[in-house]
Amino acid sequence: MKISVIGAAGTLGSCISFDIIINRLADELVMLDPFQDALTGHWLDLKHTATGKDINVIKGDYPDMAGSDIVVITAGAPTGAIKQRSDLLPGSMPIIKESTLKINQYCPDAIVILETNPVDPLNYELFLLSKNQDRRRFLGYSMNDSIRFRNWIAESFKVPSSSVEGTVIGEHGSTQVMLFSTVKINGKTVKVDEDTKKFIRGQPVIFLGIMENLKPRRTAGWLSAVGTIEVIKAIKNDSGAVLPCNVIQDGEYGYKGLSMTVPVVVGKEGMRSVIKLELTAEEQEGVRNTVSAMNPLMKIVEDYVARS
Ligand code: LAC
Repeated sequence: MKISVIGAAGTLGSCISFDIIINRLADELVMLDPFQDALTGHWLDLKHTATGKDINVIKGDYPDMAGSDIVVITAGAPTGAIKQRSDLLPGSMPIIKESTLKINQYCPDAIVILETNPVDPLNYELFLLSKNQDRRRFLGYSMNDSIRFRNWIAESFKVPSSSVEGTVIGEHGSTQVMLFSTVKINGKTVKVDEDTKKFIRGQPVIFLGIMENLKPRRTAGWLSAVGTIEVIKAIKNDSGAVLPCNVIQDGEYGYKGLSMTVPVVVGKEGMRSVIKLELTAEEQEGVRNTVSAMNPLMKIVEDYVARS
């Protein structure tokens, strides 16, 4: 399997490259980034890390992506004390446009895992600008919301996080829809009281504020890399794992013309199918709210693509 990572010199891109190597998920790994010194440092180190693992680690440029089975894009506008991830949309759209046009040129049928924020509208831009618009190819990364949701549930119920199940759908942002009806502890459905729901619903914005006000700022490189590796493993092994991914909607939850997070069966083709969950009335309202919050962002992308 050949995997290319665009943005491999960054926190997340280098974490993902490292995880691909130690999990032996590729025969060939191409690392790309405009910041050549930082890229060279990571590449030399990771090349030696791959010793004995029979992985060819290449410091490359766009033409070296030819033949990639998967392209991971982490490149995007630098965060800068943003209030919400959609603040990054204007700066990231040109970067995603360049990456998409190069993927069209060198590996037009590759599965693309998009990490860049705001992932919802940018995954839609990636789809709209792609030569091959098989929507199964496009897996936006947004699993961190569900992973953190399970963490906050575990803390609230004082149980090990390994015993907790739970899914988040919708925007990878403040309007995300926490599906409390999917929460299970040790396989048993649990009812979450209103005060706990309110507390947990407030955590994503608090988390982003803390991270964005750190000096220096950083992305959640470790968690995003761990989640991304689960997606890559499901593709490589054609496992049919059900993972929350940001995908182009085709009416499964009542909406089209946007990308958002839903539970997805992941296999060799990328998105094999969308799992349609039964939502409570409260959760359906949450989906209406998240879609109406994201529609203006999708319109900005459509207008940008139309001008491109
Ligand atoms: C996060 C990034 C991926 O929430 O937006 O960690």
